[in-house]
Amino acid sequence: SKNTIIAPSVLAADFANLQRDIEMINNSEADWFHIDIMDGVFVPNISFGMPVLEAIVKHAKKTIDVHLMIVDPDRYIKTFAELGANILCVHYEACPHLHRTLQAIKAEGMKAGVALNPHTNVDLLEDIINDIDMVLIMSVNPGFGGQSFIENTYSKVEKLKDLINRKRANTIIEIDGGVTNKNAKQLVEAGADVLVAGSFVFKAENPTVTVADLKKLTSF
Ligand code: DX5
Ligand code: ZN
Repeated sequence: SKNTIIAPSVLAADFANLQRDIEMINNSEADWFHIDIMDGVFVPNISFGMPVLEAIVKHAKKTIDVHLMIVDPDRYIKTFAELGANILCVHYEACPHLHRTLQAIKAEGMKAGVALNPHTNVDLLEDIINDIDMVLIMSVNPGFGGQSFIENTYSKVEKLKDLINRKRANTIIEIDGGVTNKNAKQLVEAGADVLVAGSFVFKAENPTVTVADLKKLTSF
């Protein structure tokens, strides 16, 4: 049976009512907080940084899943651990010494994630998969919320799931970008364990109900 983890992306929250939106997630059926950190270099957008994350963590009562879209993430691993990140996800494309980076994340007591851009082949993880707690498959180009889902993602998830099974790894699969009630079930059937949803949740008329619907749709 499947109990899919739902991780609303705070990037789509109303930053002028951040505490309200955090409480919405706390009181919903959501499992995690997904936090997007962008540096304006690795991706063509700047989201928010440490002071805002600190404010989020103060109110958030669920797992903090941090997605770093920054160059040279090694410089900030310790900082994110101290801020309260439970899962720290770095981009494959930003890490020339990925094995070392993952060891450093785990040494700080966090789960280690690796994110793949839409063009990055899952086979590149063959020799490192057993060291990865979670692979984040980008189903849009990273940098912005509200973009449309890339259909090739389904076959990527299936390929990754095969690799994980073949290597007998315990890695879980997270999907990030353009997730809605139209693709959620098919993503889980393909092998996804965690679904990030930004706009679909926060732009909905009733975010709490929308989270509950996503949860119901993907738990079977
Ligand atoms: C995009 C971010 C995503 C984004 C998802 O670069 O990594 O987490 O917030 O937003 P939606 O669900 O609106 O595509
Ligand atoms: Zn993200």
